[in-house]
Order: sequence, then C-alpha cells, then structure tokens
Amino acid sequence: MNGPRHTEDLLIVGAGGFARETAQAVRDVAAADAARGLPPRWRLAGHLDDDPALAGRDVDGVPVLGGSDRVHELRSARVVVCVGSPRDYAVRARLVRRLGLPVNRYATVVHPTAAVSGSSVLGAGSVLLAHCVLTAAVRVGSHVAVMPQVVLTHDDAVGDFATLASGVRLGGGVRLGRGAYVGAGSLVREYTTVGAWSLTGMGSTVLADVPAGEVWAGSPARRLRAADAPALDELRTDGEMTGRRPGTRMESPVA
Ligand SMILES: CC(C)(COP(=O)(O)OP(=O)(O)OC[C@H]1O[C@@H](n2cnc3c(N)ncnc32)[C@H](O)[C@@H]1OP(=O)(O)O)[C@@H](O)C(=O)NCCC(=O)NCCS
Repeated sequence: MNGPRHTEDLLIVGAGGFARETAQAVRDVAAADAARGLPPRWRLAGHLDDDPALAGRDVDGVPVLGGSDRVHELRSARVVVCVGSPRDYAVRARLVRRLGLPVNRYATVVHPTAAVSGSSVLGAGSVLLAHCVLTAAVRVGSHVAVMPQVVLTHDDAVGDFATLASGVRLGGGVRLGRGAYVGAGSLVREYTTVGAWSLTGMGSTVLADVPAGEVWAGSPARRLRAADAPALDELRTDGEMTGRRPGTRMESPVA
C-alpha cells in the first residue's frame, strides 16, 4: 500500500535535446497529476550540465544550476541522466559511473501518454517519452532512453544504457544488449539481438543478430563498420568488470 505522495525535487543531468525533452515530460506528468487532483510527483529543480558556459542560464525556462557534480550537494533531489547522441551514446554510462550515486537517487520518468503494461518492468534512471508502448512482459534496464512512439512488444529485454530513438519498433522476444543504440525508425525482427554497444542506423530493418560493438544499417541491415571508440571502450570496460567475453552480458533490469 502506498502512503500519501509527496513532491520530490528532480535534477536533470544534461541540458541538450534529450534533457529538454525529459523536462517537458516532467511538466506533462505534473499536468496529468493536477488533472487527477494529485500533488505533482516532482518539482523540476533544474538542469546540471558540465558545460561551464551554461551555468546560470536557463533552458526552455528551466535553470542550469551548474555542473553534474552538484548532485552530491543537492542530496535530497532525485536524478535522471539525460545525455547521449548517435555520435557518443556511451556518455550516459560514463557519467553515471563517475557520479557513483546509489540506485535510490535515480528517478524513472514515464510520460503520461506512455502505455506500460503491468507485466513490464522499467529500471531506475530510465526515461520513456510520449506515446511509447510496452505491450507485455517487457524488461527495460536502468538508464535507458526511450524516445517518442517507440513500440516494445512481448518479452523484449533491453539492457542498461540502451537508447531507442523515435519510432523504433521491436518484434517480440528481441534482446538489446547493454548500451545498444537503435536508430530512429528501426524495425527489429522478432527474437533477434542487437549486441552490446552496437548501433543500427536510422530506418534499418534488422533481420539477423547484430554482434556487439558494430554499426549496421540499411534494409535489410548490413554491417557498415566497427562502432566508434567510446562505445568500444565501454564494451571493453564491461568485459573487464565481468571477466566475460565483451558483449555477452545482459543486465537484469531493476524492477
Ligand atoms: C548509421 C550511421 C551511424 C552512419 O553514419 P556514418 O558512419 O557517419 O556513415 P556515413 O554517413 O558516412 O555513411 C556511410 C555509408 O552508409 C550509408 N548509410 C548511412 N546511414 C545509413 C542508414 N541509416 N541506412 C542506410 N544506409 C546508410 C551511407 O549512404 C553511406 O553509403 P555509401 O558508402 O554507399 O555512400 C548514421 O547514418 C545513422 O543512421 N545514425 C543514427 C541517426 C539516428 O537514429 N538519430 C536519431 C535521432 S538523434
């Protein structure tokens, strides 16, 4: 049984495109709460960004309070890390590792229009933007970015730090490895795998398993090249941390 809800401060680490989209989702959550006569879940305290030029500025009306290390001063606030791009999709993992926060500091932000089935789980620090669908028994790890209109279907498993750009559709039983980046509009065939720290290009049709640490694109998707250095560094780090062959690890999502 949940007790009466109280409003918590929320810090968004990053002040770029994804961070601003998350800020809008937080506003939309507050509006949906208000429409139901509930107090807001979060008060958007501000962005934290390591670009010193942004400190003291405001972004879409939200203040930039300073660098990401301020999470250690603002200890009562919950946190989401909203950085990353196709050029460096490993930056979220690096930042989370550097901050070293306990899991209970992280918020999970779900846009009120997202349809999340009761049999699905979503990890700490993950963000689901507008109109995403998780149909049945979908497992999404921690610090996963799910952009608007992504459809995850039955038994999909998404590893920590993965990114699903807008309009991605996964068939049933798909596995996305840790840190995988699935480009906008990609379609992934049922029961296939996109390996850890791999990227699929926008509009790809993925029909076969993509190994770890590679870039695939096209319809059907084919190998273009190895992943960029930051993604390969993460793959190596995972291998060193687990003592396993890089790319074989799937995180178990935090419920
Ligand atoms: C796949 C991707 C990373 C390749 O980038 P890149 O390494 O800079 O490659 P280039 O643009 O130099 O293209 C290399 C070749 O791949 C082809 N290619 C690139 N992206 C492609 C795609 N998405 N689908 C099909 N072919 C693609 C190019 O046409 C080119 O072919 P050519 O050698 O025959 O001329 C990039 O195009 C991409 O799709 N990124 C994801 C973007 C995204 O999803 N953004 C989400 C919103 S932020």
